[in-house]
Amino acid sequence: MKGVILSGGHGTRLRPLTHTGPKQLIPIANKPVIEYAIEDLRDAGITDIGIILGTNMPNKIKDALGDGTKFGVNITYIMQGEPKGLAHAAATAKDFVDGDSFVMYLGDNILKSGIEEFVEGFDESEFSSRLLLQEVEDPRQFGVAELNDEGKIIHLVEKPKHPKNNLALVGIYLFKNNIFDAINKIEPSWRNELEITDAIQRLIDDGFDVDSFVVEGWWKDTGKPEDVLDANQLILETIEKDISSGATIEENVKIKGRVIIGENTVVKSGSVIKGPAIIGNNCEIKGYVGPYTSIGNNTKIIESEIDSSIIIGESVIQSDKRITDSLLGQNSKIISDKVTYPKGRSFVIGENSIVKL
Ligand code: TTP
Repeated sequence: MKGVILSGGHGTRLRPLTHTGPKQLIPIANKPVIEYAIEDLRDAGITDIGIILGTNMPNKIKDALGDGTKFGVNITYIMQGEPKGLAHAAATAKDFVDGDSFVMYLGDNILKSGIEEFVEGFDESEFSSRLLLQEVEDPRQFGVAELNDEGKIIHLVEKPKHPKNNLALVGIYLFKNNIFDAINKIEPSWRNELEITDAIQRLIDDGFDVDSFVVEGWWKDTGKPEDVLDANQLILETIEKDISSGATIEENVKIKGRVIIGENTVVKSGSVIKGPAIIGNNCEIKGYVGPYTSIGNNTKIIESEIDSSIIIGESVIQSDKRITDSLLGQNSKIISDKVTYPKGRSFVIGENSIVKL
């Protein structure tokens, strides 16, 4: 079995972060989100992985992941180019898949449970596809699956106004080779994309069996800033305490709960760090780092407080107001007007930025 991770797309909902790189590299607990997908595939025994690349700085993904050796997998890169839909992306992997069955994994999705159980038995089954489903509160924002009594999928509806149940499609799918025929038969949707739900519906209409697997535990699609922060919180819930021997924790520092601190990071006297939280390498922390915070490498927190946030890295925070529920791109600065003249708020912010004062 092979793995295909979709890592193209525009990522418009994550601008301005996606102006400088693909969203699949946005770190969750200091690790690019796509690495969670690679690890899930590897842990399910799938080591031949094709990564579909789009037009938004694909080389950054190649540079970050290389040939996969560091994860114990073989990575092949496949160019999709313009994002013409999930089914279009899948079709670009046809040669790579080369007749095998495959897992298609959206590169911005994270699943708590991994995929071992989901994948089990699919290869030798009579099913053409198996879909991962999860019960959600508001199915109207998702693709929704209707099942028969045996758990076979009989119908898929994209964002239904009146959903018949609350089983939403999670962005991880199992396919056999006949999905490529189904994709060939479908037309672009109203948004001019080849939809994977249409291709799967086509399989069903052509008489092929599609199985379902309802997943327990959380699943997160990190398509929007608030989802990225939620995913960060969920992953930080799972970390173990690990303070590097190369970190310096000065006197009179309080570290409570599960906290990870990287090499060459200095936590200055008087600081309080409350886990779960992760602080990368070469950081300088003086102040308060609260729960559900991930701080990337080479960041300085100067006389400041932060919680429930992600700082991607190389950043400086010197603020007299606590920073909360925030997502800061690489090389950001938040400096209080108490330490600069003239007094007043001053911004250099990118398109689609949000500032709450
Ligand atoms: P989406 O989040 O649905 O699309 P997007 O990345 O274009 O984001 P936005 O709507 O904010 O502009 O994509 C889900 C995943 O699939 C994501 O990892 C990107 C990937 N993808 C492709 O690889 N090719 C495609 O043609 C599309 C539409 C998505």
